Amino acid sequence: MILITGASRGIGKFLMQKFSEKGEQVQGTYFSTSPGESHMDVFSKVDISNYSEVSEWVNRVCGPNEKIILLNCAGGNYNATAHKADIKKWTEVIGINLTGTFNVIKSVLPLMREKGFGRIINFSSIVAQKGIPGTSAYAASKAGLWGLTKSIAAENARKGITINNLNLGYFDIGMITEVPQEMLAFIKKEIPTGELGNPDNIFNAVNFLIESDYINGTSINMNAGLY
Ligand SMILES: NC(=O)c1ccc[n+]([C@@H]2O[C@H](COP(=O)([O-])OP(=O)(O)OC[C@H]3O[C@@H](n4cnc5c(N)ncnc54)[C@H](OP(=O)(O)O)[C@@H]3O)[C@@H](O)[C@H]2O)c1
Repeated sequence: MILITGASRGIGKFLMQKFSEKGEQVQGTYFSTSPGESHMDVFSKVDISNYSEVSEWVNRVCGPNEKIILLNCAGGNYNATAHKADIKKWTEVIGINLTGTFNVIKSVLPLMREKGFGRIINFSSIVAQKGIPGTSAYAASKAGLWGLTKSIAAENARKGITINNLNLGYFDIGMITEVPQEMLAFIKKEIPTGELGNPDNIFNAVNFLIESDYINGTSINMNAGLY
């Protein structure tokens, strides 16, 4: 069973389609973007920042003794310089990207530990690595995934569970499509290839991590050499 949070848009949606085409059993979450009535058998409405909603979802869709792979794609963003930032919006981003991701991991871990198998892949960002003005909430939330990953990897390594991060650069999908053209041109100029990443790279990396049992507690940078 592959669980994908944030499967209603962007990267999560793309991975859901790819794994469904591959014949995998997949369950996804949406929050504000409905995937449409015809997809409700494989989608659930879940606010990942709400632990009880997350826990209910995981325990409802995962059968007993099932091999579980978790792709933590759900994410939010808030751009503001620190001295002007709205505390509520800042905290919301931490609540989704960091606490929300933890909520899902905490919910799947008992099932994974019982089975003696698990793969957890978190989606972090180059924004946590480079120091980009206006991104303190997003950068802090994504940097937090690094420490969380290290700790949880050490706790569960003897249970057949791996947890890793993909530190994404700028891909031609999802939240990047909302970046204004002028800013996008600036970003592209900085990327060594001059191009946004093809999402197939993400699918390949996810498959690689799923198939690897000795890669644990680490991060893979996927940014064409930008960092
Ligand atoms: N695209 C890139 O180039 C890039 C680069 C670096 C890192 N990333 C990371 O990769 C992941 C996917 O990015 P993306 O570009 O595909 O983002 P996206 O298109 O903005 O999609 C975000 C997804 O997160 C879901 N979501 C937001 N708040 C939620 C909540 N409270 N509870 C549950 N789901 C929630 C959204 O669901 P609804 O629409 O249904 O509300 C949506 O499905 C994110 O973690 C992002 O930070 C992306």
